[in-house]
Amino acid sequence: MAGKIPQPFIDDLLVRVDIVELVDSYVPLKKSGSSYVARCPFHTEKTPSFAVTRNKQLYHCFGCGAGGNAITFLMEYSHLGFVEAVEDLADFAGVQVPRESGSAPTKKNNAAEVFQLLEQAASFYVEQLRDNASAKEAVDYFKSRGLSGEVAREFQLGYALDSWDALSKRFNAQQLIDAGLAIANDSGSVYDRFRGRVIFPIRDRRGRVLGFGGRVLDDSLPKYLNSPETSVFHKGREVYGLYELLSKNAKPARIIVVEGYMDVIALAQFGLGYSVATLGTATSKDHLELLFRFSTELVLCFDGDKAGRQASWRAVEAAFPCLRDGRQIKIMQLPAGVDPDTLVREQGLEDFELRISSAQTLSDYFFERLSQGLNLNDMEGRASLINKAKTYLQKLPNGIFQDLMQDKLKTLSNVEKLDFFKKPTTLKALSHKQKQADKKLSPIRIVISLLLQNPDFIEIIEQKKIKWAMINLAGADLLKQVVEIITQHPNINQSQLVEHFRGQETEKYINIMMNHDFLISDGLREEFSGAIDILIQEGKNSRFNELNTKQKVSDLSTNERQEMLSLMSPK
Ligand code: CTP
Ligand code: MN
Repeated sequence: MAGKIPQPFIDDLLVRVDIVELVDSYVPLKKSGSSYVARCPFHTEKTPSFAVTRNKQLYHCFGCGAGGNAITFLMEYSHLGFVEAVEDLADFAGVQVPRESGSAPTKKNNAAEVFQLLEQAASFYVEQLRDNASAKEAVDYFKSRGLSGEVAREFQLGYALDSWDALSKRFNAQQLIDAGLAIANDSGSVYDRFRGRVIFPIRDRRGRVLGFGGRVLDDSLPKYLNSPETSVFHKGREVYGLYELLSKNAKPARIIVVEGYMDVIALAQFGLGYSVATLGTATSKDHLELLFRFSTELVLCFDGDKAGRQASWRAVEAAFPCLRDGRQIKIMQLPAGVDPDTLVREQGLEDFELRISSAQTLSDYFFERLSQGLNLNDMEGRASLINKAKTYLQKLPNGIFQDLMQDKLKTLSNVEKLDFFKKPTTLKALSHKQKQADKKLSPIRIVISLLLQNPDFIEIIEQKKIKWAMINLAGADLLKQVVEIITQHPNINQSQLVEHFRGQETEKYINIMMNHDFLISDGLREEFSGAIDILIQEGKNSRFNELNTKQKVSDLSTNERQEMLSLMSPK
């Protein structure tokens, strides 16, 4: 892992980029009054309630409650981790992300070295395929599978000579082992992992080589050999062909998920450039989340055999938590004994695309499969269907898709009411609740909201010389935290301010308060000042009550008695 990203860099980055430009490059925005609006990318809606505000450098959806700064947007929109989002944002701003030194620099170097070696190995395999006389067999093999030189170049296909040390005699042994390219035997001697195989480099979405797949040229076993998990290669998180796909189209209308390297390549050869393959592992939630970053529709197209059908079902199971509104998964079942590679070869592209367009929706597939062997004409069959469906449907995020599945289950089981769904705890529901509560905002919420929205109000707080110890109301700690941050960072803007709460329990709450719409726009300073006075008074009252209660059971100290007197007198 690389070192930490320094906080001042993040603060600076948030000033450097304009959130309006950033969001607009993903979701085209229209100017409306002082903000820019669009239909919300985070929920389905007909009229725009998603707003981006330049002076706040924040976005907020009044419909579903989504909101945050530029980093949050990238995390949510592209499903990135925090570090990835900062990296993408830095890319957008055209700056480099610096790293704090000291924290595990050796590991950082190691990853860079591993990537470099993998790249060199990939080039070496390509050279061998092209130039080495003994690679003729491999060239013939690719030809026999109908591949053109162009597709071979696009996928950087190569050949590993049938040799124990083609790589080992050229590169550093330990580095080869770290990269998954060589193996040390018991006596310590090192030999090449891939021998006598055609080579498929596996690249990440940025084009960096992470590992390789290698296939024998005949019927020997194992047919495929893959790089092991290494510090840079995680099979459960990567798919084959994504880089090649994105090079052709960064926002494909759909992505076809197939099982094998050769399926992806054959489809590309026939002109279908939007497929990827899982790497000999089950399709995971991580795979699907990765692909949903780039397209809203995924079509699962696994082999027409028992293993393929099982893989489809397991992928559907993994998909349930990812099925938010606006995302769709379809299942394309292939005839028995056929895989996408043979199908596109035998029937051609048009037939294949026709099959894609008639792929089954996930809900049809799901209920069809679940109802197999059940008689829905009798009560027991229907009850059994509800029981089986229950655990799956509960995993669905609240939203239109869950409603649809629920309706389908009601129809199939002939039941009017199902009560096992999660109570709506969606942001939408929360923000509705919040709107109710806003009708009588507590003084502390007024203070926090106004301060978040107007960091310069800090001067009013400073003038009041608040005794924080006296303010022990709910929310006081949060207020203190906001005050501290603003005091330590004069001129902080709102998008930087929310950044300080990332990952904290209070993050959602801060976002809501930051976006609370005050009905008045004049006299906010007076409103703020008045609310603080109430806070101070409430603090005094509660301290007075505390002392008063104590007085009834024991004697007060001289100091306490004086304090009580001063609390009784009007200020
Ligand atoms: N696979 C693997 N190890 C194996 C067999 C398969 O890793 N021993 C993975 C590979 O990623 C392969 C995919 O599973 O591409 C699909 O396997 P299979 O259907 O057997 O391979 P095909 O793609 O049909 O291979 P080919 O057409 O080259 O015979
Ligand atoms: Mn095949």
